[in-house]
Amino acid sequence: MKIGIDRLSFFVPNLFLDMTELAQRRGDDPAKYHIGIGQDQMAVSRVSEDIVTLGANAASKIVTEEDKELIDMVIVGTESGIDQSKASAVIIHHLLKVQPFARSFEVKEACYGGTAALQMAKEYIKNHPERKVLVIASDIARYGLASGGEVTQGVGAVAMMITKDPRILSLEDTSVFLTEDIYDFWRPVYNQFPEVDGPLSNSTYIESFQKVWNQYKAVTGRSLADYDALSFHIPYTKMGKKALQSVIDEADGVTQERLLARYEEAIVYSRRIGNLYTGSLYLGLISLLENSEILKAGDRIGLFSYGSGAVSEFFTGYLEENYQEFLFKEDHQEMLDSRKELTVDEYEEVFNEKLPEHGASAEYTSDVPFSIYKVADNIRYYKEN
Ligand code: CAA
Repeated sequence: MKIGIDRLSFFVPNLFLDMTELAQRRGDDPAKYHIGIGQDQMAVSRVSEDIVTLGANAASKIVTEEDKELIDMVIVGTESGIDQSKASAVIIHHLLKVQPFARSFEVKEACYGGTAALQMAKEYIKNHPERKVLVIASDIARYGLASGGEVTQGVGAVAMMITKDPRILSLEDTSVFLTEDIYDFWRPVYNQFPEVDGPLSNSTYIESFQKVWNQYKAVTGRSLADYDALSFHIPYTKMGKKALQSVIDEADGVTQERLLARYEEAIVYSRRIGNLYTGSLYLGLISLLENSEILKAGDRIGLFSYGSGAVSEFFTGYLEENYQEFLFKEDHQEMLDSRKELTVDEYEEVFNEKLPEHGASAEYTSDVPFSIYKVADNIRYYKEN
């Protein structure tokens, strides 16, 4: 039975910051941000947006009335949780009006959470082929104003419907995963921003990719030549390229050219958004599918997922007939093009806004479909569509 991604979409807030402006304010050479890091713009969220609203807005594009009766699980992968106990998935389940006899929960392992959710969904559909699972990867990636990681911030969510006979990408069964207990990026519960060892995170990302890729080759006998494209977790767009370049010499010239060209197509959206943490790999996949004129049905794509701490996985899928018809290319590009550009002062002001804490109240207005309209008695109230 074929199982995989039947629909997928992303959502980002309608505010962004230009990286030239940020570099100049921070006293850096803009070329470092645009070329060295590979980021042109950064998505910025308002205080009335959180992982619930981002996830619900991403999912509302792909969830039909019929789906609401067929979804058995709503799984949210995130590392920007808003509650230590209650899962954001429960609120999203309510906002989307999914039938009540469903499981809703959150998955956490840094940026790997979305992939854990996806693989869990695939296993569930194997035993319940007539049902559907909604997987959401939703995060607000923040390192702090003028921090080392500021240039790699971002925000947004990706939603994926996992079904049998998927219309976009069928997932293959063999995958290789790896766990190593390290401290490259982590966020103790009392921290607003993560602790990060940038150089260690970069090197562990690349070494993890090499380890799972080498093991995958040993298990399957495949090589780079078997892939039409590789899609990477993209904390910043230069990162995946470094991992790809670290193994590219294994391939013949034609394969090298193909994989490097597809890589550029996979980072079109990330260059304008930044890091989505759990959603980054899947934003890259959407970018690849929506910006590649070369890919076609039957093409095989390899996906590398990396979550600091660290868990990584290499898995694969192939494109279904007419998959292009089920994408949201125009909508996504319009969403990016219609965003409002912030000055650095406005960005810093929005960044410093906080929701009230310890029972205090506040109310918000917003033109974003799902957003927070009130906080009171330690509860966030969400505007429904
Ligand atoms: N023109 C062009 N390029 C320039 C330049 C200029 N004027 N100045 C510097 N550069 C280049 C550097 O040569 C360097 O390139 P290489 O990496 O190819 O050598 C690049 O710009 C970055 O320069 P630095 O290493 O000096 O940058 P930095 O010290 O500011 O740190 C960072 C960069 C480590 C990514 C930091 O932003 C960071 O800590 N980010 C958060 C952590 C992160 O994203 N890690 C990635 C792996 S972890 C992961 O994937 C999980 C996750 O999502 C967090």
